[in-house]
Amino acid sequence: NPRIIIAIDGHSGCGKSTTAKKVASHLGYIYVDTGAMYRAVTLYFLRNHISFTDLPAIDEALATISISFQFNPETNGNEIHLNGVNVENEIRKLEIANAVPVVSAIPAVRRMMVAIQQKLGRNRGIVMDGRDIGTKVFPEAELKIFMTADALIRAERRQLELQQKGEVVALAEILENIRKRDHLDTTRAESPLRQASDAELLDTSFMTIDEQVRWVVRACENRI
Ligand code: C5P
Repeated sequence: NPRIIIAIDGHSGCGKSTTAKKVASHLGYIYVDTGAMYRAVTLYFLRNHISFTDLPAIDEALATISISFQFNPETNGNEIHLNGVNVENEIRKLEIANAVPVVSAIPAVRRMMVAIQQKLGRNRGIVMDGRDIGTKVFPEAELKIFMTADALIRAERRQLELQQKGEVVALAEILENIRKRDHLDTTRAESPLRQASDAELLDTSFMTIDEQVRWVVRACENRI
C-alpha cells in the first residue's frame, strides 16, 4: 500500500490527538502532534518573559529554539522536546492552553512550525493533527478529516483528563478556555482554523475513541 499523509484538523478537545496517535500506530505511521509544538513555543516565551507583542524579541527567541520529537517506549509515543529537554507534561497545563492561541497567531511562529512540520512529513506515512494541516501544511494530503464535537462535551472530557493528571479545574473555567480558543483559532488572520473543502467532517460528540479510530482507518482504506 502507498504511504499517505493523513491531516486531522478541528476544534480543541474533540479527541484529535488520541485518535491520531492510535491511527498512526495501527497503520505503522509516524504521528505528529502540532499543537504540542505551539505549546512548547508558548512555554518558552512565558519562561523567558518574552512579550507576545515584541516581534524583534520573538524573532531572536525563535532563532535559539529547537523543537523535536523523541520516541518514548514507556508511553509508546513521540514526546516533545524543547531545546533537548522533554516538556511533554509542562505543556499540558491550563496556563499554557490559555496563552497558546495568542502565540500561535504570530506569523513568525507559524512560519517556523510549518517548515518543521513539512520536513517531518516529507517521507509521507504520517498522521498529523492540528488546525491548519489540511489547509496550509499539507494541502495535498490524500486524506483530510475535520473533527468537531459539542463544546460542553469537550469540556467534560478535558476536565476528566486534567483530573487524572492531578489538576482539578472547574468545568466552567475549562468551557471558557475551549470557547475562547475556538473563537481565537477560527478568527485569526494567519491560517485560521477551517474545514478544507476536501475534508471529511467527523462529529465525535457521541463517539468513543475506538469508534473514532475505526472511522478514520476506514476512511483511510477507502483512499488507498
Ligand atoms: O491541539 P492543541 O489543543 O494542543 O493545540 C493548542 C493550540 O495550538 C490551539 O488552540 C491553536 O491555537 C494552536 N495550534 C495551531 N495550529 C496547529 C496546532 C495548534 O494554531 N496546527
